[in-house]
Amino acid sequence: MKFLLPIRGTDEECFIVNFHGDFHAYVNRCRHVPMPMDWVDNQFFAEQGRYLMCQTHNAYYEPATGECIAGPPSACGKFLYRVPLEIEGGLVYALAPEQTFEDD
Ligand code: FES
Repeated sequence: MKFLLPIRGTDEECFIVNFHGDFHAYVNRCRHVPMPMDWVDNQFFAEQGRYLMCQTHNAYYEPATGECIAGPPSACGKFLYRVPLEIEGGLVYALAPEQTFEDD
């Protein structure tokens, strides 16, 4: 599911996934080319839910860590920008990441 999160003054599109019962959220920006991962709107998973996949050139990411493990060589080993989450009283809150983005 996608959502907008203000990060350093800009509304950034982010997404949250439930992987094996744990929530993980990332900025919706591939580490190959800085563009959204979901060419088909809101479709982030591939391989029957085992990996996240950017549909533009098929970069595969580990859902729990955001590490690119296959696809274009320049993306491999890089990580999606993680959005920290806090869960309180059954609600999930997304916090702006403190790290700067290499491709800003
Ligand atoms: S833009 Fe994501 S794999 Fe190329």
